[in-house]
Amino acid sequence: MTLLPNSPHARDIKSHVHPQTNLKRHQEVGPTIMTRGEGVYVFDDAGKRYIEGVAGLWCASLGFSVERLAKAAYQQMLRLGYYHTYRHHSSEAAIELAERLLAIAPVPMSKVLFQCSGSEANDTAIKLVWYYHNAIGKPEKSKIIARKFAYHGNTAAAVSLSGKADMHRDFNLPFAPFRHTDFPHYYRCGEAGESEEAFASRCADNLEKLIQAEGPDTIAAFFVEPVMGAGGGIVPPRTYFEKVQKVLRKYDVLFIADEVICGFGRTGNMWGSETYDLRPDMISCAKALSAAFQPISALMINDKIYAAMVEQSDKLGSFAHGYTYAGHPVAAAVALEAQKIYAETDIVGHVRRVAPRMQARMKAFARHPLIGDVGGVGLLWALEIVKDKRTKQPFDPALKLGQTVGDHARRHGLIARVIGDRLVFAPPLIINEDEIDALADALGKALDDTLRDLRRAA
Ligand SMILES: Cc1ncc(COP(=O)(O)O)c(C=O)c1O
Repeated sequence: MTLLPNSPHARDIKSHVHPQTNLKRHQEVGPTIMTRGEGVYVFDDAGKRYIEGVAGLWCASLGFSVERLAKAAYQQMLRLGYYHTYRHHSSEAAIELAERLLAIAPVPMSKVLFQCSGSEANDTAIKLVWYYHNAIGKPEKSKIIARKFAYHGNTAAAVSLSGKADMHRDFNLPFAPFRHTDFPHYYRCGEAGESEEAFASRCADNLEKLIQAEGPDTIAAFFVEPVMGAGGGIVPPRTYFEKVQKVLRKYDVLFIADEVICGFGRTGNMWGSETYDLRPDMISCAKALSAAFQPISALMINDKIYAAMVEQSDKLGSFAHGYTYAGHPVAAAVALEAQKIYAETDIVGHVRRVAPRMQARMKAFARHPLIGDVGGVGLLWALEIVKDKRTKQPFDPALKLGQTVGDHARRHGLIARVIGDRLVFAPPLIINEDEIDALADALGKALDDTLRDLRRAA
């Protein structure tokens, strides 16, 4: 590709390192520059329109341009554009947002800590797991378990907790006492003849075996995403969380729900914890907290944890943790406005009304010759491309078939999230049924194009 030296594309290549990107390939292909948004659509600098099938990074719940959120930011900036929350300081927006989160929490929660990203919320949760156990005189309870292919963020600690080896490689990670248990993906990991419930029992048994092997006195906490996002859009097998939570209670292990993707309506309830009946001690949330219009995250903690923190901070002189932008008043004001919009428009009710169309359109792809697995809940769905539907044999990864479908989808005006050979969809929550049809029609064309490519190459 030849680029004019002063084009935005050439300037991007010259000046900007992109996350989760092949940096060499970026030098050749350059960026897709998005210039504006309208509802569930974004437009690139050539004017091409795309349905954002993943709400950006699973976050732009209200679409890509919302006047009320802009006004909330503007007004807060005029009144008080910044203040911190260190050493007893606060702002009205931060207070109101904390109260609102506690009021809608899926289980009784006591307090809220603010950060700027999902990674930092989980990082804070990791630190609090350790702080709590030191405070109650059990410092040896320090190992933390997550699942293989879990994604909890990208700070050094949050990515160590995550079970994605590709994100550890050559970063000298994971660095701390994190352990990983079964990937609860029934389609891929269930054995021949094993029911979904039996698979869930096996996962829970393996968790218990891991706790016993490590020594129950050393296991501090277990982190989960209610539905696994970056691991491939994986819904838990039936009875999984009921069985896993029983094991955690038996060994007195803290339970942390990472609601960064599932929080605020994605699964058809306000929280994934409601959809799957989780009783967490801490809940992290971000993304749709502010409809993604400001970088803000929250960690809710229950009274047991808070009570221990109070004593420990007094003993040590201070709760020595925090970020410059924690509870930033502009981010908090925008998040508060997003929460008001959710309540006024009954966003959860809307998700429930349109989810059956999403489910019907996604499930219909099970009849496509390339699709083996279809699974999802609410407005979070995933399809897996396979070579042989009967044996579930995957294609050679070198073919990068998921990427091929993703590229065709873009030509047809749809942005999909490609994770290996899984295609994941989590559109803005405001999507309507016609837009769901448009998303599915574009995906159908992309799959047909890919099939045609394969047949031509054969
Ligand atoms: C479940 C989950 N937790 C945490 C994170 C990290 O959030 P952030 O990118 O805001 O740091 C993500 C990001 O996609 C996520 O999906």
